[in-house]
Amino acid sequence: MGNLNKKTVENLDVKGKKVLVRCDFNVKMENGVITSDKRVVAALPTIKYLIENGAKLILCSHLGRPKGEFNPEFSMKPVAECLSKYLGREVKLASDVVGESAQALAADLKEGEVMLLENVRFEPGETKNCPELSKKFAALADLYVSDAFGSVHRAHASTAGVAAYLPSAVGFLIQKELEVMGGALENPVRPLVAVLGGAKVSDKIGVIENLIEKCDTIIIGGGMAYTFFKALGKEVGTSICEYDKLDLARDLMAKAREKGVNFLIPVDNVIGKEYKEDTLFMRIYSDSIPDGWMGLDIGKTTQELFSKSIQGAGTVIWNGPMGVSEWENFAAGTTAVAQAIADSGAISIIGGGDSAAAIKKLGFADKMTHISTGGGASLEFLEGKELPGIACISEK
Ligand code: 3PG
Repeated sequence: MGNLNKKTVENLDVKGKKVLVRCDFNVKMENGVITSDKRVVAALPTIKYLIENGAKLILCSHLGRPKGEFNPEFSMKPVAECLSKYLGREVKLASDVVGESAQALAADLKEGEVMLLENVRFEPGETKNCPELSKKFAALADLYVSDAFGSVHRAHASTAGVAAYLPSAVGFLIQKELEVMGGALENPVRPLVAVLGGAKVSDKIGVIENLIEKCDTIIIGGGMAYTFFKALGKEVGTSICEYDKLDLARDLMAKAREKGVNFLIPVDNVIGKEYKEDTLFMRIYSDSIPDGWMGLDIGKTTQELFSKSIQGAGTVIWNGPMGVSEWENFAAGTTAVAQAIADSGAISIIGGGDSAAAIKKLGFADKMTHISTGGGASLEFLEGKELPGIACISEK
């Protein structure tokens, strides 16, 4: 785990210094109102530490995907209000990212004060990792702290480029994410069981390849199971299936066999006529899907098979639902897996938006060891990829 050799916020002398902190405040919003502030809450330990240690804080983040120009729909205003509430002090919002307003507010900061830049993606250079913009970010501050775990897979000006121009460190959120997920991969309490779901094998190839090297059991559910079905010569009806990935699916299963990894795919299914919430559906006691039907969830026997494996685990990593979990008729498989993880007593690590959402909806969040704040970032971490937002930080 080279990543843990990075400087942390505690290695910096922050008193009286202006500290630019890149957070991931890309919160869920509906009609201008924050519907989940968990990413704001996750950023608080670093922010509070910096306040307590006399830093002058310049926070920044992206929100949504504005196209490099000011767009009030993506303003950080609701985030500034949310932060003010949690910190019990005013968090001033600059009306621009690195312009006159940001510069004036930054110049005026006193120790322990906090300001927030406008959405960094209002600047066209942000997603292009433009050095000119990175220099402007750097000119606002004395130090740079990266704590935006959800965005560390992005090589953007505020997540990576800026670190070339300021002394840098990671914050407590990144530290925690790396320690928990890195520990589970490098030195797990065994058996290590990975539960992988979601629609496409192509989204998870890197993760499966990396986890085959580390896991004792890999459980495959969700739409991608049907590509493995087809690769084994079974019928898939109209199920989602990546016909160009059949060789790859066969290779992955062969590799798992070679390494002695249990590779579990569904043995029974809930099938539907169409990809529609209220479609006609039934459970079939088979791992072949009849013509004109599509697999939309794992069946009861599979739930029991997967749950048994999970219950014997020392560590479970879960990424991706087992079926179309947002539709009640096809949610049982995902619920059963969530229940099994909650009951298992294993170290449990949940990555990815859909599995985290399922865990929360079912009220199991407190029973999990760690729910990652990163969707794409946690996937890339599980793939063993270098994350630009961490690679750019100074070594200890
Ligand atoms: C996320 O929500 O996964 C991160 O904030 C990254 O957002 P992005 O996919 O728009 O870069």
